[in-house]
Amino acid sequence: MISLIYSSQGLIFYQSPFYFQRMATLLAQCFDKNVKLRITGILGLSNGRFMQVLEGPTHSVEDMFAAICRDPRHFDVRLISTRSIAERRFGSWSMAFVGPPVNIEPVFDMIDPKMTVAHEDIVTRLASYIRC
Ligand SMILES: Cc1cc2nc3c(=O)[nH]c(=O)nc-3n(C[C@H](O)[C@H](O)[C@H](O)COP(=O)(O)O)c2cc1C
Repeated sequence: MISLIYSSQGLIFYQSPFYFQRMATLLAQCFDKNVKLRITGILGLSNGRFMQVLEGPTHSVEDMFAAICRDPRHFDVRLISTRSIAERRFGSWSMAFVGPPVNIEPVFDMIDPKMTVAHEDIVTRLASYIRC
């Protein structure tokens, strides 16, 4: 199994009247496909930026990441880190979500500007926002 973390610039805005509808649609897609592909993880949103941890079978995660990169709902997708894992950190979440009004900007501060932060530190910080 692998765990993959990336960030991107989202085109789904909290200020938009369609925010909840658009996020609900996106998360519903995640739930359906992730269960089938045995992918778990967490999706974070802050100030228009996404950060996501995808964990699961190597090929499932790599294929999913390739599909996500092509998704027009965001751009500037940057791979932060990939590592092989023996155990999941978000095993009970097909895709956890944390975003406004919860402020997760400190996680984004961890990766700027050089993206040299340790994989596990980001995962631990994201996990701290939810119960897992
Ligand atoms: C920020 C972001 C994160 C996404 N995360 C997932 C995910 O975890 N699982 C998933 O199935 N789709 C995710 N998607 C949606 C995929 O890009 C894609 O639209 C979805 O899997 C449906 O693909 P399909 O129409 O080829 O089945 C995400 C999209 C965005 C913009």
